[in-house]
Amino acid sequence: MKRVVFNQKGGVGKTSITCNLAAISAARGLRTLVIDLDVQGNSTHYLVGEIDADAFPAEAQGVAGLFKQTVGSRKMRQNPDSFVWETPSENLFLLPSSPVLTQLEKELESRYKIYKLRDALEKLDEEYDRVYIDTPPNFNFYSKSALIAADTVLVPFDCDSFARQSLYSLMENIAELQEDHNPDLEVEGIVINQFNSQARLPGELVAELEEEGYPVCSTYLNTSVKMKESHREHRPLVDMAPSHKLTLQFLELYAELEGRRR
Ligand SMILES: Nc1ncnc2c1ncn2[C@@H]1O[C@H](COP(=O)(O)OP(=O)(O)OP(=O)(O)O)[C@@H](O)[C@H]1O
Ligand SMILES: [Mg+2]
Repeated sequence: MKRVVFNQKGGVGKTSITCNLAAISAARGLRTLVIDLDVQGNSTHYLVGEIDADAFPAEAQGVAGLFKQTVGSRKMRQNPDSFVWETPSENLFLLPSSPVLTQLEKELESRYKIYKLRDALEKLDEEYDRVYIDTPPNFNFYSKSALIAADTVLVPFDCDSFARQSLYSLMENIAELQEDHNPDLEVEGIVINQFNSQARLPGELVAELEEEGYPVCSTYLNTSVKMKESHREHRPLVDMAPSHKLTLQFLELYAELEGRRR
């Protein structure tokens, strides 16, 4: 089961949602893989901290290593699992991002490598019970690769009026990709993040989305400074503060999503 978390708008909570849902999944005993397709590497830093660039040559590592070998010698190809790292959490694994993803993108695009992530993940189907893919805030080669490789897409929505405008073009992009490359991709839900129940606008925006027929998840995530703190500490919020209100909302969201799969 592979979920991609995508919204081309920046800062809406893609990384926070990817890593925290994945951490819950791992804590439940499911072998869970996070794939960080964003050159910013925020999921990578969140889950394993700062990386020693000398010890880990960027081109041979993680997502970059995996893609790089698709344009190299066929004889030298390694199993996709050899690019996966362990994290400090049991059952939680990471295919880390790399600063070279930007320079690699043009070559991958020009050589039609858009299906290679899907192929690699098919090889890992037996290894991992759940895959969570974090994407960059762009509809680029990497986010398209992820939408092609995934079974479902979660769309974080941060309740401002610009977010609503960008949602329309986002849904158009997803629909076109479904039509052209992955008809089985399911829009699993719009995840309301940084919801403020005291203010009028967020509630109105969400109600409008529901009226327009968007599949809004019924669990909303509130704003909390604890989230930033957990990023700074390189520990998923759900591990760092297990009884915090926002953690409980993540657990509820997880149960909502997994409950529908049964
Ligand atoms: N529910 C929340 N409460 C408080 N802060 C949050 C919440 N969700 C996310 N944030 C904060 O908002 C910022 C953006 O979140 P995050 O990095 O998860 O978004 P993103 O969509 O992955 O961003 P980008 O598009 O840059 O990759 C971070 O500083 C994060 O700590
Ligand atoms: Mg991010």
